[in-house]
Amino acid sequence: MERIILDVDTGLDDAVALFLAAGLQEFTIEAVIATAGNVGLEKTLENTLNILETAGIRCPVYKGADKPLVRKPVQAGDFHGKSGLDGPVFAPRKFQRAQEEDGIDALIRLVKAMPHQISIVSVGPLTDLALAFRKDPAVALLCKQIVVMGGSFSQGNVTEHAEFNTFADPEAASLVFSSGAKLVLFPLDCTRRVTLSPARLADFQRRKGRSTAVFCSCMESYTANYTKRGQGQPQMHDPLCVAYLVDPSKVETEYCRVEVDTNPGQTYGKTTKTSTNSDGGVLVAKNIDIPWFWTLVDRSLANLP
Ligand code: BDR
Ligand code: CA
Repeated sequence: MERIILDVDTGLDDAVALFLAAGLQEFTIEAVIATAGNVGLEKTLENTLNILETAGIRCPVYKGADKPLVRKPVQAGDFHGKSGLDGPVFAPRKFQRAQEEDGIDALIRLVKAMPHQISIVSVGPLTDLALAFRKDPAVALLCKQIVVMGGSFSQGNVTEHAEFNTFADPEAASLVFSSGAKLVLFPLDCTRRVTLSPARLADFQRRKGRSTAVFCSCMESYTANYTKRGQGQPQMHDPLCVAYLVDPSKVETEYCRVEVDTNPGQTYGKTTKTSTNSDGGVLVAKNIDIPWFWTLVDRSLANLP
């Protein structure tokens, strides 16, 4: 059983990551932290609570950072809609609400209480982790591992060079990448290969269950937004980080040293890598077994209400 903390900016593909973690018996979700990113914090928190309530998961949910460390906030409404989760309509929640404790403090507390036992899945800007490491530098080395969606070593998706999560808080990404924490990185080069086809979506639409219905509604908006932008089929970035923790052998990786450009200018937020051995490196995902990934999505949704 893998203990995980998810740090999300719920968004349409973040929602899939949450369903995956919620529906697979391999995981115990110790906490979910909502951070500002795809949209503002109030909306990402609301979206996170709604997805977890749909999935019937009673894990604690916390508020993370409401803005990046240094830069002005940027958002990704083009892909996720005005609410950040356009598509599904949720009934009023019965049990899920945000905890009083601050998300960064909760992360520090949980990691220190269970040293080397908690894997963190970070699929939004890295602000919360950067703030936690700043506040208590020991925490970086006490996480079992941190699986991050972010960066690109080819083209960006928000600027020519930068991927959204690293562009949304380059200073935080730089701090986390150089923290000494055990990191696994899923850059766009890997995640943009995994897309949802209309045929697969139609197959999900024939199935029953409220989680599957919300998943389909999210994926219908996600598909429409990609089509509107002429970007092909929607890309399944964030859930790949959760899938990795189920079976790392299904992901081809290489050790690299990763740097983030924090100089204001055209390459702000760009990631570059240099090959290295495992010493001080980041494990970068290159390829994932795509049919296997979809079997996990099938299994998790089948397990959920
Ligand atoms: C990343 O940016 C966000 O819009 C997605 O949720 C994903 O985490 C992809 O670049
Ligand atoms: Ca995200």
